[in-house]
Amino acid sequence: MSEPLSRAAELDAADPLAGLRARFVLDDDVVYLDGNSLGALPVTVPGRIEDVVRRQWGELRIRSWEESGWWTAPERIGDRIAPLVGAAPGQIVVGDSTSVNVFKALVAAVRLAGEERAEILVDATTFPTDGYVAASVARMTGRTLRPVTPAQVPAALSDRTAAVLLNHVDYRTGRLHDLPALTAAVHAAGAYAVWDLCHSAGALPVGLDEHGVDLAVGCTYKYLNGGPGSPAFLYVRAEVQDRFDSPLPGWNSHAEPFGMRPVYEPAPGVLRGRVGTPDILSLLALEAALEVWDGVPVEAVRAKSLALTDFFLECVGRYVPRGRVESLTPPAHAERGSQVALRCPDAGDVMKRLVGRGVVGDFRAPDVLRFGFTPLYVSFAEVERAARVLGEILD
Ligand SMILES: Cc1ncc(COP(=O)(O)O)c(C=O)c1O
Repeated sequence: MSEPLSRAAELDAADPLAGLRARFVLDDDVVYLDGNSLGALPVTVPGRIEDVVRRQWGELRIRSWEESGWWTAPERIGDRIAPLVGAAPGQIVVGDSTSVNVFKALVAAVRLAGEERAEILVDATTFPTDGYVAASVARMTGRTLRPVTPAQVPAALSDRTAAVLLNHVDYRTGRLHDLPALTAAVHAAGAYAVWDLCHSAGALPVGLDEHGVDLAVGCTYKYLNGGPGSPAFLYVRAEVQDRFDSPLPGWNSHAEPFGMRPVYEPAPGVLRGRVGTPDILSLLALEAALEVWDGVPVEAVRAKSLALTDFFLECVGRYVPRGRVESLTPPAHAERGSQVALRCPDAGDVMKRLVGRGVVGDFRAPDVLRFGFTPLYVSFAEVERAARVLGEILD
């Protein structure tokens, strides 16, 4: 047995989360390292969806808005996500896509900052949707948009800054940005911080309340395993909720939605982050998916995530011919999310061959191989196999 193989067996034997794999539908022949794009299916979901469709919808029909708790699902499921991102209850609603929530949060942040603050800073390395939405928000609110890297944010802040839109973990490189320090710098400049948690929610502790984040958004189909297109979440810090002025004040966010009033009056609390009728099938699939987290502390998930990515980098160093790939993922734990990105000139072709051999990661143009490590279901033996197959392909 080669050294990484025996190390993998030891690491799996000592893994306190190893039993959680049984909570997912997975194929033992496939190493699934794409949970940072679409999380695997939790075993609880198909039965729940069957019940929601056949009984709640099929039999109870309209009664389910009350009797099956459909109406309150956005905030109930928000409260289920809250501990995973370090938020007390009553600050998260679930609904709409991340892109839509970026729009709501960023406009609300600019409105909180006041008229005299003329500039929005956006992460220049961001996932494209955030940049596109930020450009539109700037045009719409009459602010200028300044793209800067997260490292440049402290120097770019001034009394002109209204809001800063940042990613907690970079979608390409897997770099983890310093949320506490950057949020503190934004606040010291009198501006508002909006964080995109798509690649950190469910992968590592976020500490939204602890670090005083104003607004945050995140998707639920990656590390929260909510399913394709599952609704995103919006966090609005308790202290700013009464001043949160939504640019999408739909009837579901009205203080009295069934009053059918001609004039808008926002609901109290985070409910004002809702918009229209919630996407019940997807929401309730997500609620069932979140049950895999029962009894699972996010700190334990983080510890395993770092062990998995450390082990992957070690195995890549061992199996892949020197100079064939370059890791874009920072070696320091404090700067690493739950993915490893390897630059490789023929990455598109290499990923196709990896998938053909049962190792599923993804390719990001022009030259990045991305491997996501979901600690709830990825084993160390799978990590060893993925690196070994990669080494064989690149040899
Ligand atoms: C960091 C980040 N932000 C936003 C999005 C887009 O989210 P949505 O498609 O839910 O609008 C993604 C999608 O992968 C993402 O990775």
